[in-house]
This record gives sequence, C-alpha cells and structure tokens, in this order.
Amino acid sequence: MENNKKFLRTLLAAAVTTTLCSQALADNAEPIKVGVMLPFSGIYAALGDAGRNGLKLALQEHADDLHGRQIEFIEMDTEAKPEKAPEIASSLLDQHHSDFIIGPVHSGVAMGMIKVLKDKDTIMIIPNAGANAATGPLCAPNIFRTSFSMWQPSYPMGRVALDSAYKRVVTMSWNYGAGRESLEAFEEAFTAGGGKIVKQIMVPFPKTEFQSYLSEIGSINPDAVFVFFAGGGAVKFVKDYDALGLKGKIPLLGSGFLTEGTTSAQGPSAEGIRTTLHYADGLDNEVNTKFRQDYRQMFGKEADIYAVQGYDAGLLIAKAVDKLGGDISDRAALIKAMESTKLLSPRGEVSFSKAHNPIQNIYLREVVDGVNKVMDVPAAKLEDPARGCKL
Ligand code: BEZ
Repeated sequence: MENNKKFLRTLLAAAVTTTLCSQALADNAEPIKVGVMLPFSGIYAALGDAGRNGLKLALQEHADDLHGRQIEFIEMDTEAKPEKAPEIASSLLDQHHSDFIIGPVHSGVAMGMIKVLKDKDTIMIIPNAGANAATGPLCAPNIFRTSFSMWQPSYPMGRVALDSAYKRVVTMSWNYGAGRESLEAFEEAFTAGGGKIVKQIMVPFPKTEFQSYLSEIGSINPDAVFVFFAGGGAVKFVKDYDALGLKGKIPLLGSGFLTEGTTSAQGPSAEGIRTTLHYADGLDNEVNTKFRQDYRQMFGKEADIYAVQGYDAGLLIAKAVDKLGGDISDRAALIKAMESTKLLSPRGEVSFSKAHNPIQNIYLREVVDGVNKVMDVPAAKLEDPARGCKL
C-alpha cells in the first residue's frame, strides 16, 4: 500500500515537472526566426507576395502546433536577381541567425542561396524555384522544397501532346535555368514518343517583347507551341499570342505557371489553354476549398500555386516543430521530423522524396471561364528522378 502511494507520488511529480518544463520552454524560448527571401518587386513580385501570404496563413492557422513559440519573420526582397542572393542569404544566416530561410521564386536566386546555405545549420525551404539541381546534384540534408522540380510539371505534358496527335512542336521560354529545364523535360517525353521539336526559341529574362518571335511561329505553323512563362511575362505572352492571331490556330500548351494567378489579367485570351501543374484552383477537395476561402478572407484576393507552396512551407515548419514539442535546437532531429512529415496540402497529399522534393500528382488543366479546371491526372504521385543526388 505504502509502495503504491510512493509510486503515485513519483508519477505525479514527474507529470508536474514535464508540464512545467514545456511551460518554461514556451515562456523562455526565443522566437523561431524565419528569414523570407522572395521577390517583392520586379516581374515575379506577385509570386513573392502570394508565397509570403501563404506562409503566414499556415503559421497563423497552426499556431497551436508551435508549443508556445512565437515566429519572427525577417523579410528580404530578392527582386528575382540572382546576383543579390549570396549577400542576402549570408545576412539571414550570420547576422539574423535564422532557424529557417524560406525562398526563393527564381531558380538563379536559388543557386546563389544554395552556395551559401548548403550543409549549414539553417534549414532552407524552397517555396517555388524549380532548379533541378536543388534536389539533384546540390541536394543536402538541410535543403527542402515544398514546390516542384522543373522536370515534374513539364515532363507529363510531353505525353499529353503525343496523345493529342501533335507531331511538330515549337518550344519557347525565357533563357535562364528554369526555362531551359522546363523545355528539356517536355522534349524528353515528347521526342521519346516520336515527336519533333521543330524550333526552340529563347528570350532574354525578363524581356516581354514577344511579337517578332510570335510572327516567326506563325510562319512555321507547328501542330502546337509549348512554353514556360510566369507572372507578368505569362500575362503579356498569352495576350500577345491572341492579339497576333495565333490563338484558335495553333494550340498553346505550357507548364501551369502560364495560367497561375494570371487568368483575370489575361481575360478571354487564356480560355482553352491546357497546362500541366501540381495544383489547380478548381481542385475539388475539402482542404483546397477551406484554404481558398481563408486566403480570400485574409488577403482579399484569390490564392494560386505560389500561395499553396508558401502555405505548405509553413505547414512543414509547424508539423515538424509540433513533433519535437517546440524544441528545434537539435537540427538532425528537426531534419528527421521534416523528412517524415506528410502534408495535407490544398494540392492533395504530399510526401517528401529522399532528395527532399515533393512527391505529388500532376494535373492536366484547361482554362474554362477563367478557372484552371482539372481535366485529368496524367501523372499520379510523380517523383522527380533526382539525378545526381547522393542523399
Ligand atoms: C523558377 O525560376 O524556378 C520559376 C519561376 C517562376 C515560376 C516557376 C519557376
């Protein structure tokens, strides 16, 4: 009897100590520092703004998962300029001692960030930039991506084009890493099935004078055109394609960035465009419906893929912090917690590959009444090949 009482007293004392410890942790712990490296000016400004909004929405909605830890944001404008990346990343790492650095949108900026952040104590979460190398030859334990590799959304479109009986295709993009890798992925699938790329057109980034290239496409008269453009460039390209009389004559295909966050500015010029992406605003699932409602309420505008990817970066942080009871000081444990996290994303379920890239569905979408409507799932649970990653 006496033994039993003693045991109960010890158990009670242990429980009180645990509660006090986690209360003390919450009271005393420093805020979690989240550096944000996104473009808030320039051609990708809207993409950066949406990513930041999504991140903040997730961390606000999942504040309970943080075990009392506050979040301190340190925001830096990359202007989508690769030459700015090393300096900003170094300052978020060495001066601000960020626990997490979220960014960027532009693949060239990602390469500059990785040079500084690879194998450091800070966790880098890429909420957009698709540079294949980030989860390929440059992969590292502390680098995660909640978006996509450039290969992922473009490869399936090669097969969609073949299924549509297109044989001769012109490809076109801005001439930088993301654009080149997007066209290569399309070409890989399209030519493997017997398709021919009759011309590849590369435009200096971020130029948006497309008319002379479009006249050339008109005279080539291919079966279809596949492009990578995003943000303000996507708006201008789709409008010019229509204005120069190509719409309705030569089908326009793209990775889905062509019609993400842009359809209201593109208006009727976007109707009927088919793209492949890991999200669609018209996706019919509960998480997406709630996310879009909450986003509209909080920011007064429509969410898009950039908002989803920022939201999922926030979810990934919240879920990992929760698994560790709020204590993220052991970075190896933090990485392990992140690796095993499964996200219930507005895009559907997302898990992470060994290379830390999302495994996710790729949807075929068509713009109908200004909405990217899901037509098919040409690649379910698609994993990037992660060529060159040694993790
Ligand atoms: C990139 O540079 O990786 C990128 C930019 C905008 C949309 C998609 C990818």
